[in-house]
Amino acid sequence: PRGAHRDDAGELTVAGVTAGALAAEFGTPLYVLDQDDALARAAELRDAFGAAFPAGATVYYAGKAFLSIEVARWMTGAGLNIDVASGGELAVALAAGVDPARLGLHGNNKSLPEIDRAVEVGVGAIVLDSVVEVERVAEAARRHGVVQNVRLRINSGVHASTHEYLATAREDQKFGIPIADAVEVVAGIRERPELRFLGLHSHIGSQIFESAGFGEAARRLLELHAALRAGGEVPELNLGGGFGIAYTSADDVVPIATIAGELARVVTGECERLGIPVPRIAIEPGRAVIGPAGLTLYEVGTIKDVLVQTESGSAVRRYVSVDGGMSDNVRPALYAADYTVRIAGRASDADPALVRVAGKHCESGDIVVRADYLPGDVRPGDLLAVPATGAYCWSLASNYNYLGRPAVVAVKDGAARAIVRRETEDDLLSRDLAPRSEPRSRA
Ligand code: LLP
Repeated sequence: PRGAHRDDAGELTVAGVTAGALAAEFGTPLYVLDQDDALARAAELRDAFGAAFPAGATVYYAGKAFLSIEVARWMTGAGLNIDVASGGELAVALAAGVDPARLGLHGNNKSLPEIDRAVEVGVGAIVLDSVVEVERVAEAARRHGVVQNVRLRINSGVHASTHEYLATAREDQKFGIPIADAVEVVAGIRERPELRFLGLHSHIGSQIFESAGFGEAARRLLELHAALRAGGEVPELNLGGGFGIAYTSADDVVPIATIAGELARVVTGECERLGIPVPRIAIEPGRAVIGPAGLTLYEVGTIKDVLVQTESGSAVRRYVSVDGGMSDNVRPALYAADYTVRIAGRASDADPALVRVAGKHCESGDIVVRADYLPGDVRPGDLLAVPATGAYCWSLASNYNYLGRPAVVAVKDGAARAIVRRETEDDLLSRDLAPRSEPRSRA
């Protein structure tokens, strides 16, 4: 987070609160969100796209990255709308008091109750992801006697260079409809008076670094967009999210203003060529807003030097195990994602040692940081910070091995407050329906 610094004693502080104070008050593992950093990133996206697209740009915050009532309010307060991808995410946004008109609902397999709820509360747009959803949403709108705004998600076929599981617009995947089918599906939308067609949607993937992929998707969609104007108005074009962030120094992040500028150049040029006005542009970033604003604090429990075979003989790998792991950050196990680690609770002059930070789960793939340096005198009880965990860590967290999910703390101006509490042992047992036995103490 931008608000992370070392204080005079060498201790890590976030927005003026020391790692030690955070751990003492809220325990570890702990998700820490730098509130001002998240707000600043939301504002940067809003302003960069607003400046690049004078005809208008709407920024949706993709709630799947991290959503809580508090964070939903930060985002709408910063002028962002919110993209939800399930009835659960919708419920959080509604509980935050977000104006439903500022919500978009996604999902490749929305349930009928999810569709019904979205139509009933009046979400601003439902993104249709398949042909069957055209009638499902129309039927719900008919039942509620309303006209529902919809977008149509297109699989643009653009190959974004990212991890296979994160690329969402290749031909062989479940999202959207093929570009070739779009004219017919839009005609079906327009035949239904309960639906109002807003425009096309494309999301090519996540953690993407070159803006070329976004530009190519925009080009392909604008061609279609222009053709669809023959049959009625098409007020907007939604280009999805996916802007990459830096997890390690190997990640070469493109500044948001550059992406916005390059996209604007492509869109404006293409619209000129096609002889159409530039539509209102919408984007849906999640990671780029909340990812860098978060870090996770862990406490070191055990340290173990393991002899490993290398090409040139053998070497020692130092395993530093912390009190969380794949239950609070599954990304290394799921996507081979790399992170970095810092000693947080104190300064150290010791020579750096190459370490692997592991979790406490019963799997050897339970790695938090594959390889990074910590002071050689790292010891049990030390606090460690892993940056850039604001996105897709808490939202992908599990209770594996019956670990309670960590609390989420927001820090701002030297003050910290929990916005989501830690799960307790009672929480973990609360859905188990069998009668409890009284634990017996040892005689
Ligand atoms: N819009 C749509 C339709 C999406 O599917 C996604 C992400 C976004 C927007 C936001 O993408 P972002 O700006 O956050 O990259 N769990 C994976 C990421 C999955 C992304 C899924 N969709 C990870 O941890 O890397």
